[in-house]
Amino acid sequence: MVEHIFLNGEYIEADKALMPVRTHAFLYGTSVFEGIRAYYNKDENQLYAFRVKEHYERLLQSAKVMWMKSPYTIKEYENITKDLLKLNGYKTDVYIRPTLYKSSETIAPTLTDNEDSFLIFTTPFGDYFDNSRGLKLCVSNWRRTSDNAIPPRAKVGGAYANSSLIKTDAHKAGFDDAVVLSESGKVTEGSGMNIFLVINGVLVTPETTSDILVGVTRNTVIELAQELGIPVRERTVDRTELYAAEEVFCCGTGAQIVHVESIDHRGVNDGKIGSVTKQIQELYFDVVKGKVDKFKKWCTPVYD
Ligand SMILES: Cc1ncc(COP(=O)(O)O)c(C=O)c1O
Repeated sequence: MVEHIFLNGEYIEADKALMPVRTHAFLYGTSVFEGIRAYYNKDENQLYAFRVKEHYERLLQSAKVMWMKSPYTIKEYENITKDLLKLNGYKTDVYIRPTLYKSSETIAPTLTDNEDSFLIFTTPFGDYFDNSRGLKLCVSNWRRTSDNAIPPRAKVGGAYANSSLIKTDAHKAGFDDAVVLSESGKVTEGSGMNIFLVINGVLVTPETTSDILVGVTRNTVIELAQELGIPVRERTVDRTELYAAEEVFCCGTGAQIVHVESIDHRGVNDGKIGSVTKQIQELYFDVVKGKVDKFKKWCTPVYD
């Protein structure tokens, strides 16, 4: 099977999808993107793309911040994504990467008077973390970019230099990933995932104004917690609450739902997955595969 990519309005073979070296987005990180998953349901022989609409809604918000004009409507993005997945004929879980980017070959970093282009590539994708165990995290000594520097609310390509520093230095120090604090020293998120704590039985997560990417999975977790009758609070979170929490887990399209074993060498729930995390994780993995009627609205079937 030859994998195809959507570029400049066409579905083309992946190895023929090329762009000029002077492309603005390559020089300055002036792209906005999404990471979407599609899950293969073997019993139904169906591929379900998860919360595609919500991802494209966020793409358009990111685009607005970066002075980009969207070439398509949300419905058109959804159809292009579905057609590309169908063309590639996957029978595995898949990662989908739509990117809207500044494509002029200009030297000035200006965002206006600069063309916008769009591409999607897709690739088979398993677990991002080893899901047989929890994560060993540290608190990063890097800071999250702030809303007034490179706004984390927008998923901007260039902002991921921050994530790269956070993740690489955590790895080099022997951790799986890191929790990163804001300039004001409050908990924001991981290098590429949001974070939840269980404190006195309440699910707590940094609020949307805490210099975080407002994750689609974060929203899914909040809705699933409500379904399970677990109370949720979005609020500012202190670093030491991470050490004191009954449970901690991370979530994201890539990360999915993964429990945290330790933070800065301090064990969380003796390293084991806690009951709240487990309930949410189990429901999540059923929901994404289209197995729960109530949440099937989030799953786009790819094959007719
Ligand atoms: C920095 C950051 N935070 C959070 C997330 C989780 O977002 P989502 O659940 O929409 O994938 C991601 C995922 O890409 C991310 O890169």
